[in-house]
Amino acid sequence: MNDVASVRVLVTRRTFDEVLERLRRRFDVDDNQGDQPLAPDRLAARAASCEGIITAVADPVTPALLDACPKLRVVANCAVGTNNVDIPACTERGVMVTNTPGVLDDTTADHAWALMFAAARRVVPSDRWLRDGHWKAWGFMDWHGVDVHHATLGIIGMGRIGRAIARRASGFDMRVIYHNRRPLPDDQAMACGAAYVGFDELLSTADFVVVAVPYGPTTHHLIRARELSLLKPSAVFVNIARGGVVDDAALVDVLAGGRIAAAGLDVFENEPTLHPGFLALDNAVLTPHIASASRATRLGMAELAARNLVAALEGVRPPSLVNPEVVPRTA
Ligand code: GLV
Repeated sequence: MNDVASVRVLVTRRTFDEVLERLRRRFDVDDNQGDQPLAPDRLAARAASCEGIITAVADPVTPALLDACPKLRVVANCAVGTNNVDIPACTERGVMVTNTPGVLDDTTADHAWALMFAAARRVVPSDRWLRDGHWKAWGFMDWHGVDVHHATLGIIGMGRIGRAIARRASGFDMRVIYHNRRPLPDDQAMACGAAYVGFDELLSTADFVVVAVPYGPTTHHLIRARELSLLKPSAVFVNIARGGVVDDAALVDVLAGGRIAAAGLDVFENEPTLHPGFLALDNAVLTPHIASASRATRLGMAELAARNLVAALEGVRPPSLVNPEVVPRTA
C-alpha cells in the first residue's frame, strides 16, 4: 500500500472537525469547510487525484466524474440513500460505494412524526398567523385540525426507517398498515404492530400516509395523480423518502384544491428549487431535507462514512459496502 499520508481524499461538504482530524491522521485530506456546493466540474477537478471521496446527497457521482478520477477506490456517501451515485458505473470501474444505514433510522422516524403532527395540527400556519398579529380573540371554531391518536397510519416502504416510524404509533393508539415490495417476516411485522395491505388499499384507507421507500427507477413517481386521487379528503400525506418518489406537480394540485387535508414534506423534486406552487400553500409543512439532522445523528453518519472510507482504503471490507461485487484492494 501507499504511504497513507500520500493517499489523497476529498470530503465534499462541511463536516465535523473531529472527523476531519481523524482522517487527517491517515490521509492527505482536501476539505470543503467553506461548504459551497461543488458544481460537477469543480467536483471532478478536486477529486481527480483522490483515492477516496466522502460525498453528500447532492453530489452526483456520474460516469463522467468517475472517468475524471482514475485513482478512485471508494465513494463513501454520507447518507443512507445512494440515488446520487451511479452504482453500476462504480462497480464497473472497481470503485466501492458505501452508505450510512442504521445510524439515522430513529432520527428520521422522529422527523416523520414531527411532520405528521405539524401538518395535522396546523402548527406552522397558526404560528405564522399569530406572529402576523391576527390573534385578536380566542376562537372555539378556529384552527381545527385532524387527530393523530386512534387514526390509521399507512406506511409505504417498511425498511428500517418505515419500521421505526411504525413502532412509534402504539403510543398514540393507532392502527398501522403498510405496503412493501414483499410482506415483512411475521416477527418483524409483530414487533412494529403493522398489518400488510395492498398499495391501493393503503392509499384509500390510511388517515396518514407516510412514504419511506428508497428512490430509484422503480419508485420514480410512485405517487402520481392516480395515487393521490385515492387518498381520503381528510388524509395527511408525508414524504421523508426522496424527491422524485412523488410527482410534486400532482401533489401541489391536490393540496391547492383542498382534496386532502395537508402534507408534511422533507424532500422534493429538483431540490433545492421547489415547485413554486408549494410556497403558496398553507396546508403543507415544508422542511429542507433535514430528517436526519440531529447533531448526534449527523455525527454518527459522518463517523460511519469515515470508517467506511478508511476500511476501503486500507484494503478491508467497509462496514456498509453497497456493491460487494467490488473486492477491497490496496493501492
Ligand atoms: C438522507 O436523505 C439520507 O439518505 O441519508
